[in-house]
Amino acid sequence: MSASPETIGRYQIQEQVGAGSNGMVYRCFDPILKRDVAVKVPAAGLSGDELQSVVENFYHEAEIGAQFQHANIVTVYDVGGDLLQSDKQPDNGRNHYLVMELADGMSLKDYLQQHGRLPVEETLRIVFECCKALDYIHYQGVLHRDIKPSNIIYDADSMSVKITDFSISAYADKPSEKQPGTLPFSTPEHFLVDEMLTRQTDIFALGSVMYQMLTGSCPFQGDSVDEVASRIVSSNPRPIREFDHAIPAQVEFIVLKAMSKLPRDRFKDAVEFTDAVSFALKTVGSVKRGHDDSHRKNNDIDEYLILRNNSWFSEFSPDQIDELVRSGCVLNYEADEYLVKEGDPADSFYTLLEGQAEVVKADKTINVLKPGACFGELGHLTKTHRRTASIRGATPVRVLVVETEKLLSMSPESQAEFYRAFLTITMERLIEKNEQFLETDT
Ligand SMILES: Nc1ncnc2c1ncn2[C@@H]1O[C@H](COP(=O)(O)OP(=O)(O)OP(=O)(O)O)[C@@H](O)[C@H]1O
Ligand SMILES: [Mg+2]
Repeated sequence: MSASPETIGRYQIQEQVGAGSNGMVYRCFDPILKRDVAVKVPAAGLSGDELQSVVENFYHEAEIGAQFQHANIVTVYDVGGDLLQSDKQPDNGRNHYLVMELADGMSLKDYLQQHGRLPVEETLRIVFECCKALDYIHYQGVLHRDIKPSNIIYDADSMSVKITDFSISAYADKPSEKQPGTLPFSTPEHFLVDEMLTRQTDIFALGSVMYQMLTGSCPFQGDSVDEVASRIVSSNPRPIREFDHAIPAQVEFIVLKAMSKLPRDRFKDAVEFTDAVSFALKTVGSVKRGHDDSHRKNNDIDEYLILRNNSWFSEFSPDQIDELVRSGCVLNYEADEYLVKEGDPADSFYTLLEGQAEVVKADKTINVLKPGACFGELGHLTKTHRRTASIRGATPVRVLVVETEKLLSMSPESQAEFYRAFLTITMERLIEKNEQFLETDT
């Protein structure tokens, strides 16, 4: 058997794309489904308990990963192999494999090695994407427990960020062995016997990754494992603004909060972390706006912030907001241009992102809408299939438009959130009208 076989199962090896403590990862071609995939196999030469443990990790990773479908998480396609088989052929680790989506780019570890310190805006964008992945897995009760640069795959051209390697992940509510994580990205609770690993563990680790992106250095260093562990538990890393005074204090604060020694002092959840990062991005992004080519990316953040601060969407998770933005399209209108005309079919839901719009009925302006305002929901929900008023730009406006059909095909959780928001707003309007009615009546 050759040391580097041409195929792994049916997958034709093309090149190695990475390696870790569990084994090697290859870019392979799947001749049946005619697509490139990433295939992880145990390191050659492993046998006995060591091989068994790596293979168990593959199955664990596949089982946990199989439930995820998210733009910021590597999708698991398959896991294969037979432990009995490998007992007969102890060195043939390639009997076992984990097949995944091939993520574009390279590991953030390699990217940092090539680029050193990253610009603040790029760092924030990467953290923003990672936060969305954390929010998604935490919502499903899973903790990653090994967030570090080599487990984040990044493509700077397409701004694709994907988290991989769920080999030591666990369900938050099920007892599981406390794995050591990976130094120097472990957290204080990894070393404190009485502390559990929680969502805040992933938040701390992402904070450490953010630290490394901004400074080019690991937050905790030392000559031995014990020295690094003791620093993680009780020393503060060198302040990031000592590396570069131009890093905004707001950004340093985010890192410090995520890396607080006590889990309760960190962001309460990935949503709070996402919000802090997106606000910082807005500040950093707006300074640069107009003279770089990331205009479209800034808009994504703008949309996120406007929707997040809107009472309709305040309870939506970052992921649900993302889903809504992806389900719709952003349109621009001139001042005086009609977005909606009275009598038109009521087939979409609008959120005003920028500018002001007038609500017009029988040629009279009856209301002026500001950014964040939503309209069009009544037509959809009451099955009144015609618009009851017109909406016209009072200034140039930018709106997010989601067709009713698309709303109906969003995830059940997002739809439930949408209806909950609708009920709350309808109740508020009813109470307000009721009070007006009582006032005029007395
Ligand atoms: N789906 C993928 N697409 C592209 N490259 C990948 C993919 N999965 C992993 N890699 C590359 O292979 C490397 C090792 O993968 P992975 O982290 O899954 O291995 P591991 O042995 O479990 O690592 P660890 O040392 O963290 O235990 C990653 O750092 C990355 O560079
Ligand atoms: Mg890894």
